[in-house]
Amino acid sequence: MSDLITEDILKQELGGISDPDLGLTLYDLDAIKKIKIDNNLIEVFLELIQPIQWSVQKINDACVNVLGSIAPGYESEISFSEKPVNNSDRQILKNVKNIIAVASGKGGVGKSAVTSNLAGALSLMGAKVGVLDGDVYGPSQPTMFGLEKQPINAVESPDGKIIAYPNEKYDIKVASMGFILDRDEAAIVRGPMLAGYFSMLFEQIEWGPLDFLLFDLPPGTGDIQLTLTQKIPLTGAVIVTTPQEISLADVRRSIAMFRRVNVDILGIIENMSYFTPPDMPDKKYHIFGQGGGKTVAKENEINFLGEVPLDIRMREGNDSGKPIVFENNAQAGVFKNITSQLVTEVRRLNYSKLELVETQISI
Ligand SMILES: Nc1ncnc2c1ncn2[C@@H]1O[C@H](COP(=O)(O)OP(=O)(O)O)[C@@H](O)[C@H]1O
Ligand SMILES: [Mg+2]
Repeated sequence: MSDLITEDILKQELGGISDPDLGLTLYDLDAIKKIKIDNNLIEVFLELIQPIQWSVQKINDACVNVLGSIAPGYESEISFSEKPVNNSDRQILKNVKNIIAVASGKGGVGKSAVTSNLAGALSLMGAKVGVLDGDVYGPSQPTMFGLEKQPINAVESPDGKIIAYPNEKYDIKVASMGFILDRDEAAIVRGPMLAGYFSMLFEQIEWGPLDFLLFDLPPGTGDIQLTLTQKIPLTGAVIVTTPQEISLADVRRSIAMFRRVNVDILGIIENMSYFTPPDMPDKKYHIFGQGGGKTVAKENEINFLGEVPLDIRMREGNDSGKPIVFENNAQAGVFKNITSQLVTEVRRLNYSKLELVETQISI
């Protein structure tokens, strides 16, 4: 049997494996770039829709399985690469594959805390991650990453341009309005000046290549948010809310804002969903109401990415500069699950854009 193994047969068999995020086969996705049979070794080169970090293990296992049954006695080696992203329409941040705004209709719902933990979960999976803290009046990422009072590193290039470098912690790059302005200065900054500061953040920060840039937007749906969502080439947005009705009214405004400027909404995360006292692990107290995030997601046909419980250690982690996702506990697991859902949505969106690009080329 093994004498009859050809590259075509392998391509056909492996082509039937499905990419679970997209519900399409490797054949449909044109993912099999090359197969090499050399003596006892089968090498397979796959190209997947990015980000690929969450999919390689599953697809690798499925390939090894198929090869084990049709080509027993052969060793196999599966290599993964990413389908190139077309960012040619971008004026800025060309090196960043996915730019995701994290938004909330109002402050205090845990947007920044959620952002820091999503960033941590993405980084733990091996993605290159940056966090841009756009909250001028209440920048909190420096605290959440233990980077308070770190000046931003800036150099002047030979042509007189200022280039600034983000700070770094846990392998995550962090830039914040808080590195540029202190609280007293920020309080007097208004409209046009603010636009200038943001241009500085977007145009002068040298992030280097990133898989994800998470943009912690200032809370609300006013002019600042609208300008920012138009100015930055966003892949999509995530909306954070608490479960009660009063927050949901704000979520609806956020949804309307993103839809008005044609930004895809990748999902809704409900934070502070319930509290489980550590000494009563079977109890769930729905302090801020129940199920609101899910309802508003359904009502607007948006993905519900998950519920984040209230957890004292999460607050402590954010206050002390180490997001809880870096610990080994249930709350860290919650963020890893939500992040994996988010990544699925990003991949689906990137796939739909790829199709769009191909169609445009063929016209
Ligand atoms: N699920 C949670 N459990 C415990 N504390 C939380 C949770 N989410 C947020 N917090 C805490 O609540 C406070 C407000 O959160 P923050 O992320 O700063 O809100 P926002 O950015 O929406 O204004 C912070 O001290 C944060 O650590
Ligand atoms: Mg915040």
